[in-house]
Amino acid sequence: MNKFLVFSITLFLVAEVTSSAAVYKGQSVFVKECKECHDSGQAMAASKKAKEWKRLLSDDGDELASIHTSSRKAKDSWEYFKSDRFTSKAKHLKDFMMEYSKDSGKVPACN
Ligand code: HEC
Repeated sequence: MNKFLVFSITLFLVAEVTSSAAVYKGQSVFVKECKECHDSGQAMAASKKAKEWKRLLSDDGDELASIHTSSRKAKDSWEYFKSDRFTSKAKHLKDFMMEYSKDSGKVPACN
């Protein structure tokens, strides 16, 4: 095998592992921070298109945060959405939501 091919394959594998790690991180953020009010992360991800998730969770999740901070029903989440516990993880959440969005065609593995 020539060196360039080996190099390309290595890069591809590294990229794959890195991106599934981000998706996994996003999923664990959901379980830890969102599950008390929203049932299933995967069902939620599949309720919107990738483009909508991208919008909601860009700029440190600004738009998703304001949906919550402007709703009385979501009062218990206000402190969280204003904290950097949320803003610093919004990117991972975005990766997770986009990975399993309505138009991704992906169904999460049962593990
Ligand atoms: C304390 C409870 C609570 C927590 C924690 C919470 N949410 Fe929510 N969320 C709500 C409520 C209540 C609404 C509905 C707001 C409204 O429309 O008045 C909502 C709305 C939403 C919506 C909009 C739904 C739609 O149909 O457009 C999304 C998306 C969402 N939440 C995602 C999340 C994510 C992701 C997290 C975790 C980072 C989270 N929520 C954490 C209570 C919560």
